[in-house]
Amino acid sequence: MKTLIKNIKQLLQVERTPRSRVCGADMARMDSISDAYLIVEDDRIADFGRMTELKEQSFDKEIDAHGRMVLPAFCDSHTHLVYAGSREIEYIDKIRGLSYEEIAKRGGGILNSAKRVQEADEAQLYDEAMERLHTMATYGTGAVEIKSGYGMTTEAELKMLRVIRRIKETSPLTVKATLLGAHGIPMEYRGRQEAFVDLVVDEMIPRAADEGLADFVDVFCDAGFFTVEDTERILEAGAKRGLRGKIHANEMACSGGIQVAVKHNALSCDHLEYTGEAEIECLKGSETMPTVLPGAAFFLNMRYAPVRQMIEAGLPVAMASDYNPGSSPSGNMQLVLSFACVNYRMLPEEAINATTLNTAYAMGLSDTLGSIAVGKRANFVITKPIPTYEYLPYAYGENKVEQTFLNGKAL
Ligand code: NIG
Ligand code: FE
Repeated sequence: MKTLIKNIKQLLQVERTPRSRVCGADMARMDSISDAYLIVEDDRIADFGRMTELKEQSFDKEIDAHGRMVLPAFCDSHTHLVYAGSREIEYIDKIRGLSYEEIAKRGGGILNSAKRVQEADEAQLYDEAMERLHTMATYGTGAVEIKSGYGMTTEAELKMLRVIRRIKETSPLTVKATLLGAHGIPMEYRGRQEAFVDLVVDEMIPRAADEGLADFVDVFCDAGFFTVEDTERILEAGAKRGLRGKIHANEMACSGGIQVAVKHNALSCDHLEYTGEAEIECLKGSETMPTVLPGAAFFLNMRYAPVRQMIEAGLPVAMASDYNPGSSPSGNMQLVLSFACVNYRMLPEEAINATTLNTAYAMGLSDTLGSIAVGKRANFVITKPIPTYEYLPYAYGENKVEQTFLNGKAL
């Protein structure tokens, strides 16, 4: 099957020499081609260029993208989209003045979702997650990382991972699975947290690895949650089983999470609201992708990660949705673009790099996703007619995507 998308107003994020990630000043650059074509063969990008250079050939299908932009589908490298029900009542508690930590201490927050996930069966979790995933795809997302973490017991964590495996097998989106055994401390382990970390290290990680259910391992390394020592034990246990780290760090405090992520060569460290000079220095030269979650910072009304300083220091920055029922009940990556520009003072080019190529890197997928490059998977979107690509973050809240293509096929 050979498809031509022709008369594209602007083809964005094109790469002749594919890179694994974009760092520092390069983030403000995004190559594009005006009045362009894109050729898709089966599930791959076969060719692209200027309309004036399109060679005579036959196609099975032609799509006229006049007035429209084409860009790679977003990669969302941090989500918790398998969960049961919603938590809008806690949202009201927050409006009334309770903090995220206070809600968590009272058994709300992560433990509230854990109770519901423990009670739900796999079919219910799968159906709810697939509906969320479909909405995300209509907003232009083509790849997601999904975490467990609302299980709290080995059985419930494995149940979540099996749901993610079924999503992987049946959804057109590209999916990566992360075991987040250490997300919260169950009530019965309060005061003996090491025993819960033992459970993660001795039972959850080996079983998830043996059953081939996880690609990565995660820990919520932060004040009031898991310590640097807990995190080291979990990252070491994961590494022994071939699971690289992608950790939650520095959302509540300068927790040492960034340093421990870099020390253990984690693929990413995520949140980063509390990032100072020492943390930026530590990330320099590392292979760990600093990942910011603008939806969570917005929704919890938190301080914003110092993205400008990070970019000025030459670091790459990725941005993901953190889709979850507590701190970010949205998987809309177009909104992430707008937050990036308004709240972090990123340029649209930087925001697009942060949500495509750099998030692909943070999922270990930048060789196949995250840009328009020959041989990459044909995951891309055609926008509605829009005046410029800057309009994408500017016109916040409306869906600018007309059609999402995954593996070469229209959704
Ligand atoms: O990434 N920070 C930790 N975990 C999630 C929130 C999970 C929840 O509140 O249910 C996050 O924001
Ligand atoms: Fe998260």
